[in-house]
Amino acid sequence: MVNKIKTCIFISGDGSNLESIIKNSREYNFPIKIELIISNNPNAKGIIFAKKYNIPFKFFSSQNQNNFERNCLFEIKKKKIKFLCLAGFMKILSQNFIKTFRYKIVNIHPSLLPKYKGLNTHKRVLKDKEKYSGCTVHFVNSKLDSGKIILQKKVLIYKNETEKSLKQRILKQEHKLYPQSIISIFK
Ligand code: GRF
Repeated sequence: MVNKIKTCIFISGDGSNLESIIKNSREYNFPIKIELIISNNPNAKGIIFAKKYNIPFKFFSSQNQNNFERNCLFEIKKKKIKFLCLAGFMKILSQNFIKTFRYKIVNIHPSLLPKYKGLNTHKRVLKDKEKYSGCTVHFVNSKLDSGKIILQKKVLIYKNETEKSLKQRILKQEHKLYPQSIISIFK
């Protein structure tokens, strides 16, 4: 694909979704190209993927949200970014950021939204003895995990399931769902 959409990925942690998007984006027909990775955590493991795949990377502290967003918007504008993916990014973006950026922003969440927004998803799902959980890719608005849903994948909860096993099995699905969702947005 000649005109891939210039994309930035925000991370805070392990970056396994980041790596899956990077790998997919190297396919000729995948609609986006990752031009920038931003982390608000200087120790995020995912930073290694920026180095591994030779993608420009920035760390900005998010202790002061205004400064963080201003720094991000500056870099994003400089690189003519037109699409933003949040992948394990642990901050809520302000209405002002979303409005100023103007283009689409998407996020992945490890539950079947609108159920189990927020943190400690797997723990709460198991406590409630749910039969299913899963993951959701959705557009981002300024309310937590609340934008329009793009795609979801349901995962059956096994007997004797632990938080760790559920997290791992859902994460495996996330790595397929996020690229599929990106394809579906730009089809
Ligand atoms: C994923 O479960 C994602 O759904 C959630 O945070 C986790 C991030 O994992 N938002 P990783 O950093 O992509 O490995």
